[in-house]
Amino acid sequence: MTTPAEPAMQTVAVIPGDGIGPEVITSARAVLDTVGAKHGIKLSYKDFDWSCERYTQTGAMMPEDAIETLRGFDAILLGAVGWPGVPDHVSLWGLLIPIRRAFRQYVNLRPIKVFDGVESPLRAPGHVDFVVVRENVEGEYSEIGGRLNRGFPEEMAVQESVFTRLGVSRIADYAFELARSRRGYVTSATKSNGIVHTLPFWDEVVAERAAQFPDVRMDSEHIDALAAKFVLQPQRFDVVVGSNLFGDILSDLAAAVAGSIGIAPSGNLDPTKEYPSMFEPVHGSAPDIAGRGIANPIGAVWSAVLMLEHLGHPDAAREVMAAIEATLAKPETRTGDLGGSASTVEVTEALVAQLR
Ligand code: NAI
Ligand code: MG
Repeated sequence: MTTPAEPAMQTVAVIPGDGIGPEVITSARAVLDTVGAKHGIKLSYKDFDWSCERYTQTGAMMPEDAIETLRGFDAILLGAVGWPGVPDHVSLWGLLIPIRRAFRQYVNLRPIKVFDGVESPLRAPGHVDFVVVRENVEGEYSEIGGRLNRGFPEEMAVQESVFTRLGVSRIADYAFELARSRRGYVTSATKSNGIVHTLPFWDEVVAERAAQFPDVRMDSEHIDALAAKFVLQPQRFDVVVGSNLFGDILSDLAAAVAGSIGIAPSGNLDPTKEYPSMFEPVHGSAPDIAGRGIANPIGAVWSAVLMLEHLGHPDAAREVMAAIEATLAKPETRTGDLGGSASTVEVTEALVAQLR
């Protein structure tokens, strides 16, 4: 007889950030503690004060050895960064982008659902439940390019899009694998009729990968028509895969269709698990409501669900998801952005009570 092994300790670096970031992360932590205790999940946390506040005091969003520090963790949980007075490119390029790129987080995962109790701006959204899989490290967001003849009439700017066989194959594979665990349907966002080099290449490589997943159905849609369908028929989608730029735009559009930015989660994943993946709500630091205790914590809590899935705790993830659904369904446990009047703490307590 062998006794079951103690579950291994997993380490999480927590970066609450600015504004409502710390408020919603406190809530996500409370939910993780509750569900973790119930399922015997051992997570150990370390907090980092990297933020715009740190930038104004020290001149840097994070210390020089930040990437080295984070490298040893199993996951990173982030609130939001950004604050008036600090240019947004400082908070983005000083923290978020270096982390995404150093840890080759090549998948940006954005699930979208229309929940009972959350009003979509669409008249009849129906049953909406899909995931946008955005390529997160190459494509249109490359650093290759430059400016010439600044200040002259012939001034010009060039920026190269970079699509690699490796990069397109791995994001397509991720989308097909994910579809297998869902409804088995992938939509690939393209524009190969107008962009004549990179996107026909994208189409070719995606089709090659699709052939490896005969059990998954696949459609290619031009990005313009696809944007219209997100609004007109959002029920039809299961997994939507797109390049960095297309995925960025589609995921915000999808979050708007679902009703509130306050509930939207995201994961920046290295599916190989060689490097830590990062989980963060889609919303920013919301300076307009920061410090008032009214931020919707669901986006951060749902991001923690994605983290639980990534760390191999699907049962705990499912339970938190059910608690989110139950909490959103009751008017008295909805925050102001959803038309309710509950505080962040009240929503957190409702989630925790549901989980106990
Ligand atoms: P934002 O997402 O912070 O706020 C947009 C609007 O949505 C505001 O009216 C806000 O009150 C509301 N809102 C956002 N999250 C909410 C929540 N959880 N509950 C209730 N209401 C919520 O976007 P904004 O105002 O464009 O940016 C503010 C700062 O956040 C900027 O410095 C920006 O650069 C930064 N930002 C950071 C992100 C990140 O850390 N990943 C992402 C987006 C913005
Ligand atoms: Mg965006």
